[in-house]
Amino acid sequence: MRKKIVAGNWKMNKTADEAKALLSEVVNMVKDEVTGNVEVVLCPPALYLATARQYVTPGGKVSLGAQNCHEKESGAYTGEISAPMLQSIGVEYVILGHSERRQYFDETSAQLAEKVNVALASGLKPIFCCGESRDLRENGDYVAFVKDQITDSLFHLSAESFANVVIAYEPIWAIGTGLTASSAQAQDMHFELRRHIADQYGDSVAQDTTILYGGSANAQNAAELFAQTDVDGGLIGGASLKSRDFLTVVKAAQ
Ligand code: G3H
Repeated sequence: MRKKIVAGNWKMNKTADEAKALLSEVVNMVKDEVTGNVEVVLCPPALYLATARQYVTPGGKVSLGAQNCHEKESGAYTGEISAPMLQSIGVEYVILGHSERRQYFDETSAQLAEKVNVALASGLKPIFCCGESRDLRENGDYVAFVKDQITDSLFHLSAESFANVVIAYEPIWAIGTGLTASSAQAQDMHFELRRHIADQYGDSVAQDTTILYGGSANAQNAAELFAQTDVDGGLIGGASLKSRDFLTVVKAAQ
């Protein structure tokens, strides 16, 4: 049975004290209330990851993820953070290819392929984001577009390496807009992506691949989204910033 994951992407939010409070609340709530088979991945700003490590028990239900890493292992890249650095402080996941990174930082598919490589080589599991714009959803072949994002940045991997990748389908028109994809729209795309993975790596790898939905998922709509056959949890932005809302989303994935 494939792993269910709910990841909280805090993006560029929270001061240090606020971050500690949220970490403590979420970790305690997960410990007390989450009984089922779901992994929680907290992705605070990189600045707080070392602190976050103190709240998280290795091998427990809560893991840590970074929101990005550089495509090189080390070197003269002022201001950047490498995958080996993240791994060295106990981070297990890294979000790569988020639409905000693609849009505001011009990240390309080729660059993302390099980031995926360095993350995997460092022992991090990429949470690889893909998704179409509103214009493409309304006027173009959005399924082909999203499949190409996966092909271009991931399909050079061996099946063994690909098994460490989590996919996050995030339609851009649904991110932070309050416009969630309907559960049918999410299921349709997740089904297509799983079939695309099966065409490349075979059915067994595809069936084992965790595919998350992201885009205005929240305490109200998570249960219906996560009830879809091919939706294996979520990548949660806004709703991950309030502990009770986030816990409701986590529990919906159990
Ligand atoms: O990484 C998270 C996604 O961008 C979703 O953000 O839940 O605020 O729409 P959102």
